[in-house]
Amino acid sequence: MCGIVGYIGTKQAQDVLVSGLKRLEYRGYDSAGVATLGPRGAATVLRTKGKVQELVDLVATHQKTDSVGIGHTRWATHGEPSKRNAHPHVAGSIHLVHNGIIENYQDLRITLQQHDYDFKSDTDTEVLAALIDYVSRDTSSLLEAVRSALGMVVGAYGIAVLDTKHPDEIVVARKGSPLILGVGNGEVFIASDASALLGYTKQVIYLQDGELAVCKASGVELYDMSNKILEPTVETLEMDLEAVQKKGYDHFLLKEIHEQPDTVRATLRGRIDAEAHTARLGGVNMTNDELRDVHHIMIVGCGTAYYAGVLAKYYIEQLLGDVVISVEIASELRYRSFTVPEGTLALIVSQSGETADTLACLTELKRRGVHCLGVVNAVGSSIAREVDGGVYVHVGAEVSVASTKAFTSQVVAMLLFGLTAADAKGVDPERRATLIDELDLLPGEIERVLKAHEAEVKKIAKRYAKYDNSLYVGRDTLFPVALEGSLKLKEISYVHAEGYAAGELKHGPIALIDDTFFEVFYLLDNWLYEKSQSNLIEMNARGAHAIVITDTARKVDAEVVVRVNSKLELLTPLLFNIVSQLLAYYIAIERGSDVDQPRNLAKSVTVE
Ligand code: M6R
Repeated sequence: MCGIVGYIGTKQAQDVLVSGLKRLEYRGYDSAGVATLGPRGAATVLRTKGKVQELVDLVATHQKTDSVGIGHTRWATHGEPSKRNAHPHVAGSIHLVHNGIIENYQDLRITLQQHDYDFKSDTDTEVLAALIDYVSRDTSSLLEAVRSALGMVVGAYGIAVLDTKHPDEIVVARKGSPLILGVGNGEVFIASDASALLGYTKQVIYLQDGELAVCKASGVELYDMSNKILEPTVETLEMDLEAVQKKGYDHFLLKEIHEQPDTVRATLRGRIDAEAHTARLGGVNMTNDELRDVHHIMIVGCGTAYYAGVLAKYYIEQLLGDVVISVEIASELRYRSFTVPEGTLALIVSQSGETADTLACLTELKRRGVHCLGVVNAVGSSIAREVDGGVYVHVGAEVSVASTKAFTSQVVAMLLFGLTAADAKGVDPERRATLIDELDLLPGEIERVLKAHEAEVKKIAKRYAKYDNSLYVGRDTLFPVALEGSLKLKEISYVHAEGYAAGELKHGPIALIDDTFFEVFYLLDNWLYEKSQSNLIEMNARGAHAIVITDTARKVDAEVVVRVNSKLELLTPLLFNIVSQLLAYYIAIERGSDVDQPRNLAKSVTVE
């Protein structure tokens, strides 16, 4: 979603800003802009619709040596994607970039119009810029003006503000939208995402909700909303530059699919003892007695994180027996009137750790006294900071908008939690041992599947890329794999794709089958084989163009069969999911879509 960068120091600000914006491109955006200030406050504002490259080209013809500035990539919320709506927005002496949404902007706009403010864009951000400018008439301090304007707004924000009257500072503030300050030698960097800081500094301050900071070349002054001075905590960024490079792959998505053997190893590292058949999680912060008292696990997430939760539910409920597991879509849960029974524990699942709906559920669950554990990738993210404990999935930066390696490791991390709880409760040692053996084998198995099936899947993709519709179907643990497989295809190739439980076919979706559809059917050679096979036969009888992904050696009736020779029993669905990730990728390539930055999507959904 929108991205913020800022710089104050001795370097040419335009260079730092556009290189930071390039790093934020993966988040999804539709326009970009920068504003810089010269020593006497002369401002240069450059904005473009479209890719950051357009802005780079514009900057090349308007080079400035200014060493203070702010920049932004915008993902449209209020008003169409256009140059006019792109940030920075300017009102009087104020230049503003903003992530988030100002909910009462329309009332504020009417009030400000009565004070002769004339608005050129449709955005809530321009209203906030005007509000800061308006209140700055009563104070000589930019910090004071920003604080008092923010006191009047309802909504979420991460902002960076330049004032031509104060060319030697940038004021930033955060409520509900992340901001990180990078501290260098005689310079300060501002970013909404750590990746923009890579290559400049690893010393960072994570701004907390309700904090403001004055950034000067000499350093950072931190305040709360009541003007109390705070002591900043400087942390060292764990991410490195390599993590945000393609390393020879055509796309980040393909690189991230291929990273999965290593990322699963990273998720498991130090957490299972394959010989003793035990799992150990450092960050859960719960005693065995507390784990024994858990009777309900509520898994909360959005999109792929939600589907990871649905798959984890199948495994954990088998392991824990008498514990009820519910999986909730965060955007729905937050507005429902739900109850949390005694003994509820929540697993808050999010790759970015910044998803607005998931964060809102976390806040509500904590308010109700529920113990919340994070299953998060981004270290230092808002969710990671707010939870009572948790399991980092450790997959490194996931740059492609479509989530792949995070899904696999989210499931693995939730299994590790399930195993830890099962251990504390002393239940089902046999199943625990099988799962731990399989987790231990999983990275090698993923590696083998990638080697064995990539060329085959590429050919299949060529054959099926012409279809505009698809159904993904599976039973039991393969149902969430079908949901995730269909999401992956639709988001990167724009092919209409629906995921269904195989048993649901005759309740409606089988009516869809015709020559405009292909079907991906997941089939495990297990106790449900016969049932699933009948569903496949029913589909075939209606003229399905079925691609079956299976581990069976039996004869399968389908247009195409991908036979995954798995050493696993319980975790084979995760291998089938790798095959569907490859299928989605190669179909998207065949159809010529922008695989890493699909249209209309953002990597981290920080607004509702
Ligand atoms: O960062 P999060 O895991 O909270 O993100 C949740 C979803 O927005 C995300 O999984 C989304 O569905 C992806 N585009 C799926 O590939």
